[in-house]
Amino acid sequence: MARPFFLVSCLATALAVSCCHCHELIQHAASLPQSLSTSSRWIVDEHGQLACVNWPSHLEPMLAEGLSHRPLDAIAADVAAMGFNCVRLTWPTFLATDASYSSLTVAESLRALNLTGALAGVAANNPGVLELGLLDAFAAVVRGLGASGVMVVLDNHVSRPGWCCRGGDGNGFFGDAEFDPDVWVEGLTRMATMFTGEGNVVAMSLRNELRGARHNIDDWYRIQTALPKRGVQVHAAPRVLIILSGLYNDNDLSFLRWRPIDLTFSNKVAFEVHWYSFSDPHQWTSANANHVCARVAASVWRRTLYLLDCGWPVFLSEFGVDNRGGNVADNRYWGCVSATAAGLDLDWALWALQGSYYLREGVPGHDEAYGVLGHDWLAPRNVTALQRVRALQRPSRGPGLADVEPYKVLFHPVTGLCVVRRRSSSMMPLDMEEQLELGPCNETEAWEYNEEHRLVLRDSWVRMCLRADGDGEPVRLGVGRAGCAGAQAR
Ligand SMILES: *[C@@H]1O[C@H](CO)[C@@H](O)[C@H](O)[C@H]1NC(C)=O
Ligand SMILES: *[C@@H]1O[C@H](CO)[C@@H](O)[C@H](O)[C@H]1NC(C)=O
Ligand SMILES: *[C@@H]1O[C@H](CO)[C@@H](O)[C@H](O)[C@H]1NC(C)=O
Repeated sequence: MARPFFLVSCLATALAVSCCHCHELIQHAASLPQSLSTSSRWIVDEHGQLACVNWPSHLEPMLAEGLSHRPLDAIAADVAAMGFNCVRLTWPTFLATDASYSSLTVAESLRALNLTGALAGVAANNPGVLELGLLDAFAAVVRGLGASGVMVVLDNHVSRPGWCCRGGDGNGFFGDAEFDPDVWVEGLTRMATMFTGEGNVVAMSLRNELRGARHNIDDWYRIQTALPKRGVQVHAAPRVLIILSGLYNDNDLSFLRWRPIDLTFSNKVAFEVHWYSFSDPHQWTSANANHVCARVAASVWRRTLYLLDCGWPVFLSEFGVDNRGGNVADNRYWGCVSATAAGLDLDWALWALQGSYYLREGVPGHDEAYGVLGHDWLAPRNVTALQRVRALQRPSRGPGLADVEPYKVLFHPVTGLCVVRRRSSSMMPLDMEEQLELGPCNETEAWEYNEEHRLVLRDSWVRMCLRADGDGEPVRLGVGRAGCAGAQAR
């Protein structure tokens, strides 16, 4: 594996980006009893970070996907076994507010959509769920995840059940045909109340991907700052984290730089951002991926991630790629988004768990190429792709790791591995250039970026430097003064 590395990122470093106007943001100091809270930009819990996967339950059947393929417990156990400590579980408002939806049982809901195959599948794999009301089935999924030690972020995804998110679909912003703020508050309150006693529900994201012709900053502030007064925090805020979306499909929170939001939820607020290759159409295939990455990542930083430097957590709540490997834009984007997530040690939720849907956009059994699970939900769709995701599940910075002196790792996003020294089986002396290879990130040495702009191994008795001799040449380890000469990191 000692192949040339073209995209080596050094990632345990703090980004030296300053933030000018963020002092205006207000975060109240007193903290409440909690299971999850924030400490400046960090979401704090005993697990280190949120490493979540999205699991939709907001499409027309209003049932968490996949229950026709596998028993709930088995899916929940898989989520945990794949290293995700949390699920962003989506729900449509009307499930909680409209009796014509919530009064249906799972069987009735599937039958009304003529999903006879799914119906038979649920009967076979989850017979206990079949006759439950849809809200009870949703609660059963939450509890099933809890039984596997998986945390849940309840995500209000749409109003009317169905695939999301087009600008003109009437579900995009407060005041749209199907997005009455009063109904929305009622739904949030209902869900918050319902899960008050459910310890694994750790956060609520208030609305997915605000968008459309009506969306505007004034209403964003006006309606959301009114939430505490309207009692939403009475049930939700004491325990769960509140997550707010940006504008333009969760792509823009830049307005918070000059206009604070005061929600009076103490240390309980985070923001979310979505970042896909198609968030920047045509860019990834238009030029050198490193240059595109620099440009796009800087833009994401200016619009959303800058909030980290202002002491606010930012949850990368949707990102992901076509796991079949054939989408060039996705493949290039992955190196960029995962390097960013690793470098900043973001909290994140991958899109997505599901290998397929009961029904999506009118197609029964619609495949999900972005799913970590295969179409039949039985096994990972692509083990190589999953390994890259797993590299992000290990916290690298933040509270709890403070007793370890920080060091740099050389992360290779395309494989999810890190640059490590090849272990020699013989007792060769160190007067030769040693090769490097890719290995597990938890087995890498500590690197340091020194004042001569060289990457050196920190705890070695003789100076060893990373050498990059030229494009297309293997990266080497230079030893001693001579070996390190000309080895400036570029
Ligand atoms: C289900 O099938 C029946 C009978 O074929 C049809 O009348 C009805 O419109 C179908 N419903 C849906 C939601 O496709
Ligand atoms: C799995 O993902 C890798 C990385 O993108 C890709 O090269 C490979 O073709 C994929 N394999 C399958 C079976 O989809
Ligand atoms: C690194 O992680 C792998 C996989 O979790 C584990 O098998 C291995 O023992 C770990 N190595 C160290 C040095 O902790």
